Amino acid sequence: MVALVLLGSAGLWAALAAQQARNDVPEAPIEDQSALDPDAGSTAEPEPEPSPEPEPEPEPVWDIDSPDSITVVVNKHRPLDPADWAPDDLVMPDVPNNNGQPLRKAAARAIEKMHAAASAAGAGFVIASGYRPYAMQVDLFQSYVDRDGVEAAETYSARPGHSEHQTGLVADVDDGSGCAFEFCFGDTAAGVWIRKNAYRYGFIVRYNEGQEGVTGYIYEPYHLRYIGKKASKAMHKQGIQNLEDFFGLEPAPTY
Ligand code: DAL
Ligand code: ZN
Repeated sequence: MVALVLLGSAGLWAALAAQQARNDVPEAPIEDQSALDPDAGSTAEPEPEPSPEPEPEPEPVWDIDSPDSITVVVNKHRPLDPADWAPDDLVMPDVPNNNGQPLRKAAARAIEKMHAAASAAGAGFVIASGYRPYAMQVDLFQSYVDRDGVEAAETYSARPGHSEHQTGLVADVDDGSGCAFEFCFGDTAAGVWIRKNAYRYGFIVRYNEGQEGVTGYIYEPYHLRYIGKKASKAMHKQGIQNLEDFFGLEPAPTY
């Protein structure tokens, strides 16, 4: 009351009118309370918090330089370093193998799976060549030079230190139908199956038709390079035909 006493008559009436106005505000009806509280009276589960946007997959980091990397790139511009490098995890794959040449463990396990699937599809194959050490490539390359001359030999055989076979990640395969190491292997049941399915097992046909200007080698439908499933599937998805393009490297048609 003290406050009212201090007000003049006009102030008194104004204060009384304001008090009356507050008293006149009706209570919100019960049903209207829900408008103020969205969960009131609701039996529905509360909306879950929106989950944060998934982080984008980080770009894979490929090691194309280390000789023991499964994605090492070896071509006419990129010899193995050191040139006589040899793998330390060679094993004999459980796949028919004409020359008994081993492969690195990861490639061996992968070709076993691929061989089982191909055989089940009526497209079986044998390994016709696998790991070739530096010294073996010296003799092989020289034998081709002696037979065909160096210019021709270099279109289909690598100089020692430049052969993917020395990585232990390559198998040349054959199906015994008379197309061993020939273009026509690509038209055999095994060749067709491999071209379509090898990427599922981490392999690629390394020297495709019409890619000589990039890879430096004529078509070799039988030369399968293991690069791991991550890379082979990415290449397949992007429709890329050779490692040089996939890794953004310069073409290597000559030394
Ligand atoms: N035939 C392939 C190019 C090699 O000699 O490694
Ligand atoms: Zn080969």
